Amino acid sequence: MFDYLVELRARSAERHMLDLFAEDPDRAATFCAATGDMRLDYSKTQITARIRDELVALCDQVDLAGRRAAMFGGTPINETEGRAVLHTALRNLDGGPVMVDGIDVMDQVRETLVDMQRFAEAVRSGEKPGAGGRITDVVNIGIGGSDLGPAMAVEALSPYADGPRCHFVSNVDGAHIADTLRGLDPKTTLLIIASKTFTTIETMTNARTARAWMTEGGGDPSLQMAALSTAEDKTAAFGVLPEHVFGFADWVGGRYSVWGPIGLSLMIAIGGKAFEAFLRGAEAMDVHFKAAKWSENLPVMLALVGIWHHQVCGYGTRAVLPYDQRLDKLPAYLQQLEMESNGKSVTMDGVALDVPSGPVVWGAPGTNGQHAFYQLIHQGTAVVPCEFMVAAVGHEPDLAHHHRLLVANCLAQSEALMRGRSLDEARKRTEAQGFSGAELDRQARHRVFPGNRPSVTLVYPQLTPFVLGQIIAAYEHRVFVEGVILGINSYDQWGVELGKELATSLGPIVDGEETAEGKDGSTAALVEFVHLHGGA
Ligand code: F6P
Repeated sequence: MFDYLVELRARSAERHMLDLFAEDPDRAATFCAATGDMRLDYSKTQITARIRDELVALCDQVDLAGRRAAMFGGTPINETEGRAVLHTALRNLDGGPVMVDGIDVMDQVRETLVDMQRFAEAVRSGEKPGAGGRITDVVNIGIGGSDLGPAMAVEALSPYADGPRCHFVSNVDGAHIADTLRGLDPKTTLLIIASKTFTTIETMTNARTARAWMTEGGGDPSLQMAALSTAEDKTAAFGVLPEHVFGFADWVGGRYSVWGPIGLSLMIAIGGKAFEAFLRGAEAMDVHFKAAKWSENLPVMLALVGIWHHQVCGYGTRAVLPYDQRLDKLPAYLQQLEMESNGKSVTMDGVALDVPSGPVVWGAPGTNGQHAFYQLIHQGTAVVPCEFMVAAVGHEPDLAHHHRLLVANCLAQSEALMRGRSLDEARKRTEAQGFSGAELDRQARHRVFPGNRPSVTLVYPQLTPFVLGQIIAAYEHRVFVEGVILGINSYDQWGVELGKELATSLGPIVDGEETAEGKDGSTAALVEFVHLHGGA
């Protein structure tokens, strides 16, 4: 499928981006996709008009329009689980009906949203107090998609937070829940148990520990527990009042679930109105994704640039580099979104994938990363395509000079990656530093930057709830487009099962109730080490 693109790449490999800019003064305007006030600049790549045409042609080859209509229309495109993929329905505030099995699911979606808003406002106002009075703290207990979305968004939107403080516990490591609960008042803390299945071992273990902490501390779990789940029978068995349970359908995948009940902690933090703005941002991106032509479609171009770098150019990883400290958790969020969705090795038909699946996604906020791993991005032997993102303005008007410095750094990095520094330039600098002869040459070589390294930059006016909604929805659609082009199912996650099964079988062995007989030598020796050092 990518043969011709690989050939084009071989022919254009030596083209320097600076030459592409010299040849086409409008390159920045041509190689960009925009919607509303958001702009994706992908001109600092080696993509030419010809290459883009070929990439865009992939969309028609795989009937992207048909697959997109199928997703938005409720067809069970998650074929291995027989489920529709309709997280978009959760933010379909102004759209029409969404039919699943002949039923318009929008009635239920709206009803749940109203229930969530009522509950969130009651918690925020004190109308729904704990045993010790007004709720001061909320602890969301969940993992993966039941944690990363709200945890990321609560931090990202902290300038809008005016409700109780929100905390997130995910890891089964007792350190996480112990550190989080320490200092909280069991009588004024609300526990939100977030688990689509309500069976996830980490979440249920943490939930039981937190419930015991609350009871022992004089709190009232019936007042102070809520559950977010598709398994309402299990939430009742855990002791959560039915009016504190916010359910959702199985057509909302865990890593796509921040828009509905799983976003309850975010709604409590920022309020129902700001949460609605978050949904509206996502809805605006959905509308753009459905209407814009491929070459002007922001999520589609994000996906095609990704395909170009990973499947065609063979770059193994992609760095997400938000120049926004409050997007600290975005790389982890996108790791689940992208790697759990597109880390697959067979096509929808079960045939071995003959091209690489999705890339490793990693990153950290700038400018911190600049003083840590950017060295490798600039001078290492592996090319790492970078995705920069930055707002025009921050939320600290008194510190606007900080923000200008942040923006300058962000733009400087993509420029440096493109421009590089030649041996000649390095020699001149080294000479100016007083070196000469063989030492000048040796020193200069350490100061060469290869340049011509690709990056894209996403810019937006400010990180508001609306803009965060746009960003997340854009990445969701990017994952969808990449998945359709690869012909894989982006919506199951069988790869997480084996480890879960083995952890279950290892539990009694670590506890010392069973022997390690039948386990491999390495696993048995590691268990023995744990036992020898007091582990059980
Ligand atoms: O381990 C994978 C996974 O199923 C994720 O896809 C999901 O987001 C997470 O576990 C949590 O699942 P649940 O919400 O059912 O507890």
